[in-house]
Formats: sequence, C-alpha cells, structure tokens
Amino acid sequence: MDSNREHFGSRMAAVLALAGSAVGLGNIWRFPYMVGEYGGAIFLIFYLIFTFFLSLPVFYAEAIIGKKGRKGAFGSFSALAPGTNWKLVGVLCIVSCFIITSYYSVVGGWATDYLARSVATGFESLSQSTATSLFSKVSSSVWEPIISHTVFLGLAAIIIKFGIKNGIEKFTKITMPILFVLMILIMFFSLSLDGAKEGVKYMLRPDFSKFSAKTLAFALGQSFFSLSLGMGTVLTYASYMRDEDSIASAGLYTSIFDFSFALISAFVVIPAVFAAGLEPGAGPSLVFESLPYIFSEMGQTSPVLSRCVTIFFFLSVFFAAITSLISMFEVCTAHLVEDRKISRTKASLIIFFSCWLLGILCSLSFGVLEDIKLFGYTIFSLFDTLASNYLMTLGALLFVLFVGWKMDRESAIDQFSMRKSKKREKTFPYFYFVIKYVAPVVIIAIFLSNFIK
Ligand code: PFF
Repeated sequence: MDSNREHFGSRMAAVLALAGSAVGLGNIWRFPYMVGEYGGAIFLIFYLIFTFFLSLPVFYAEAIIGKKGRKGAFGSFSALAPGTNWKLVGVLCIVSCFIITSYYSVVGGWATDYLARSVATGFESLSQSTATSLFSKVSSSVWEPIISHTVFLGLAAIIIKFGIKNGIEKFTKITMPILFVLMILIMFFSLSLDGAKEGVKYMLRPDFSKFSAKTLAFALGQSFFSLSLGMGTVLTYASYMRDEDSIASAGLYTSIFDFSFALISAFVVIPAVFAAGLEPGAGPSLVFESLPYIFSEMGQTSPVLSRCVTIFFFLSVFFAAITSLISMFEVCTAHLVEDRKISRTKASLIIFFSCWLLGILCSLSFGVLEDIKLFGYTIFSLFDTLASNYLMTLGALLFVLFVGWKMDRESAIDQFSMRKSKKREKTFPYFYFVIKYVAPVVIIAIFLSNFIK
C-alpha cells in the first residue's frame, strides 16, 4: 500500500463510507414504491436473493479492482492492464459519476430545502393541493431549486476537500449511525399510526397477479442501483481500504446495511401513506408531496411530535443523499488528483463548478426548460435514464469481465480476503463462478431489457 496515499482508518470506517454511498434516495423513495408496484412480498424475496447472490459478487469484483489497483477508477485500470484500452472503463466511470452527481444534487437540493422549511416553519397547514404546489415551487421555480442545489453540492465539495480521513470518513462515521437511529424511530412512529396495518399488508402480501419478467428486471436493477454498482464508487472506496481489511466482510456488511435500510424505509413510507388514505404513488412525489401532507395532518393532533418527525425525516433524506453524492464526487476528484496531479482543493472546485452548471440545466428542465426534449426526454430524465439504465449496467459488465477473464484468479482471491481465514476463502469459488459466468449473462439480459418496451 502506498504510504503517502490516504486510507480509511479501520474496516468499520470503510463499511460506513460504502454504506453511505449505497444508502441513498434510491432506498428512501424508489424502493418503497417498487415493492408495492411489483408484487409486494415477491419483489422483496427476489430483491433479497439478487442482492446477496448476484449484486454482492459484482460488488466484490468492483472492490477487488480498486483494492488491487490502489488508485481511482482510471488509475486502477491503467495500473492493472497497462497499455490496453481497459482504462476507458475508468473514463466511463468518471463520466457516469459526473452526470449522476449533477442531477442527484438537484434532488438533494430539494431535500435540503424541505429540511430547512421543516426546521424554520414546519408544514402545519398543508392540504393535498398546497403540498403539490409547494413541491412545484421547490422543484420547478427558477431560483429556489438552483439555490438549494448550490448549497447541497457546495457542502459535498467541502467534505471532499477535506480528504478521505478528515472528510469522507469523519462525515460518514457521524451521519450513518444517526441516519439509522432516526429512521428506526420514524418507522416505529409510522407503524403506530391508525390504518398503518393496511400498508404493512400491502408490502408483505405476495401479489402473484403483479408478478412478471419486469418484477425480476426491476428487482435486480434496483439492487444494483442501491449498492452503487458499476460507477466506480465501490472501486474507489475499496482502493482506500487498508491492506489488512478484507473486502469479503466489508461487502457483506454493506449489503446487509443497505438491505435493512431499504426495508426500514419501506416500513416508514408505505404505512404512513396508507394511514393517510393516500395511494402509494410513484417516485419523488411520494417523499416530497405525500409525506409533508401526512406530517401536517398529524400536526392537528400533536404538533410537537409532528414537527420532530418531519425534521427527522428530512434530515434522514438529506444525510442519505449527501453521503451517496460524495462517493460519486470522489470518483471524479480521485482522477483529477491522482492522474492529473491537481490539488484536492482545486479538483473539488473544478468538479463543483462543472456539476453545478450541468445541475442548473437539470433543475430548469422541471420548469422553464421542460419543453426541451432530447430523444423524447427532458434533460433531467435523459441523464437519469442514460446513467442508471445504460452506463451503470455497462460499467458493471466490464468490471465482472475484467475480474473473471482478464485478471488472474490468485490476485483476485488475495484481494478478496486479506486475512486468509479459511472460512472466507471457502466462499470465494462460489463468488468467482458468479463473477465469471453468471453475472455477465444476467447483466447483458438486463441491458437488453432496456430496449424491450
Ligand atoms: N446507491 C444510491 C442510492 O440508492 O440512492 C445511488 C447511487 C450512488 C448510485 C452512487 C450510484 C452511485 F455510484
């Protein structure tokens, strides 16, 4: 390990940073909605199977590359396959992270705005229609979302500027435990609401009529997105792990953490939505329209409790989003610092300004630029579709091909478990088999499913 290169102080610190990247907006708004839409318990069971039997091996492949290469995405491929085109996979990661950072920061900005509002005034007298117009003000006016996007991205840039130990590690070590405790508290609260039982039933009842090939494709896609696979974030964070920390256990803990958090989020959101007599609608509106309305309804009986739950909830969304954002920000920063020899401060400023500009276009595509369509998509949805449906799956495919077919098996096993514990090594042949044969086929199938309407 290069002693001048920064690294995480412990395995726990690495796990918290990896979990910070994994737990994000995908868990809080996308997962609960998908559970309801794609078959309840059946979706949950497939999600669980895919997470541990397919996504985890892909996670390992990505982490093996970073831990062996000891550089960011571009540098690791250049070091492990010098003189080949494999470094282009690094370029793909940087481009993907750059795109996602820009639009993810816009949604993170909305969360920041709602957090500020819940602290300043709360949402006491919202009706369903005022909740909708509030969301449209926060997301589709010109200045307000640009300001919140600036604040959110600016905070991420400051954390990144402080580096791995003093920035990412310190921040995730504080925020991840808080996030977990807050969400568990809100879950108990949500489950205690009148009518919450219906929501629990909705999630846990296997609805075979909704089962289709889509259930499988979405469960797998969601599990990839949720574990942040295919973008180089796992690779980059693994490159900061100490030699003695095994990625076998780090990966397992991260997956357990991410899976539990997705479940907790579903138990926060769906029961509350049912208790308020609303439909578990799609995407961001669930978090930014339905929940403020639900919290404001509760405020009529217990204003203090309602205010606390609202603040806790948006603080959780904020923490979840910013810890994911910094992992993508770091992929771009590592490249500028290590391969272009730019100082960390300058690198974070460069990325801040470029993502800020691109993010402004994404933000305006909810309002004044909403009629500008490329391939039938607004700027925001084009970036989202491009990154999460195409670039991410392509990245994941190239990672498993690299580890399964280009790298030698011994190097892979060395990185997999540094402590050489027999128990861990015993699991390696299974993961290696999945990385080499199963994952490429399945990932190509998901990739192609994007083209089937
Ligand atoms: N895993 C994050 C979420 O669930 O919101 C999203 C994400 C972060 C995707 C980082 C990709 C990535 F590289």
